[in-house]
Amino acid sequence: MRQTNLAETRIAHIPARFEGQVAIVTGGASGMGRAQAMRLAAEGASVAIVDINAVAADEAAQAIKAAGNIAEAFKADLTDPDELSLALSAIQDRFGAANLLFNNAGTMLVKGYTETTEAEFDHLVSVNVRSAFMVTRRVIPQMIENGGGSIVMMSSVAAARGFPLESIYGMTKAAVQALTLNIAIEYRDRGVRCNAICPAFVRTPHGLREIDAFKTLGVAWDDSAIADTQLRICEPEDVASVALYLASREAGFLNGVAVPIDNGWMVKA
Ligand SMILES: NC(=O)c1ccc[n+]([C@@H]2O[C@H](COP(=O)([O-])OP(=O)(O)OC[C@H]3O[C@@H](n4cnc5c(N)ncnc54)[C@H](O)[C@@H]3O)[C@@H](O)[C@H]2O)c1
Repeated sequence: MRQTNLAETRIAHIPARFEGQVAIVTGGASGMGRAQAMRLAAEGASVAIVDINAVAADEAAQAIKAAGNIAEAFKADLTDPDELSLALSAIQDRFGAANLLFNNAGTMLVKGYTETTEAEFDHLVSVNVRSAFMVTRRVIPQMIENGGGSIVMMSSVAAARGFPLESIYGMTKAAVQALTLNIAIEYRDRGVRCNAICPAFVRTPHGLREIDAFKTLGVAWDDSAIADTQLRICEPEDVASVALYLASREAGFLNGVAVPIDNGWMVKA
C-alpha cells in the first residue's frame, strides 16, 4: 500500500492564498508588476492590471487567462485622474471591490542633480508619488467598505541611501515610504494594512535601462559592482514573493514597514 506523504497531504489542503480576492496591480504589464500579477492569479486572485501600455497589459492578462486564471487589463495613464477613475470604476464593475492593491507603477531618472529640470522633477513626482496618492485615496474606501484590505507600495533602496545621479528618483521613493507608514496608521483601525517593498537592482526593462543610463554617465553598475552590493541581480519573482507575503493574511500583523529586497546590501558594512 502506498504510504501517505504528509507534506503532499498538507499542500493539497491549503487553499490558494488569495482565492476569491480582487487584486489591482498598477504597472502590471511589465517587470515586477507583471510577475506579481502572474503569481496573484496563480494563487487564486482575480487580477486587474492597470497600465499606460495597453498592448503589454493585454498580453499579460491573456497569458494569465491562458494559464486558466483570472485577469483583465485596464488602460490608464496614472498621471491622469480622470483616466484612473474610469479604470477603477471599470474594475469595480468587472470584479467588485478590491481587497489587494499593488501600487507598483513607476519610472526613473538618472541625471545630475543640478542638470535636472523642473519639468523632469514634476514628471517623476507625478508618476511615482502623485499616482500613488491618487490610486490609494480611491481604493482605500473600497477596501474599508469590503471589510479591509492590504496595500503594497513600491519604494526602492534608493529611498534609504544617497546615490549620485538619482536624487529626485530617491526622493520620490522616500515619499512613497512616508505615505506607506502614514496610511498604515490612519487606516489600521478599519482593517487596511499598508507596507512597502524596497528592491535593489531588478532585472526588468526599468532596471536594465537604469544600469545603462548610469553607465552612459560614467557610473559603472557592472557585474562586479552588483556582485559587491547585492551579489546578483534581483529577479522580478524574488520581489513578487515578498510582495505577496506582505499582502497575505499571514502578514496580518505587519503594518507600515518598508522591506528591503537587496540580499543584505543595506546592512552591509
Ligand atoms: N527595476 C529596478 O531595479 C527597480 C528597483 C527598485 C524599485 N523599482 C520600482 O519598481 C516599479 C516597477 O518597475 P519595473 O522595474 O518593474 O519596471 P518596468 O518598466 O518593467 O514596469 C513599469 C510599468 O509601469 C508602467 N507605467 C509607467 N508609467 C505609467 C503611468 N504613468 N501610468 C500607468 N502605468 C505606467 C509601465 O508601462 C510598465 O508596465 C517602479 O515603481 C520602479 O521605480 C524598480
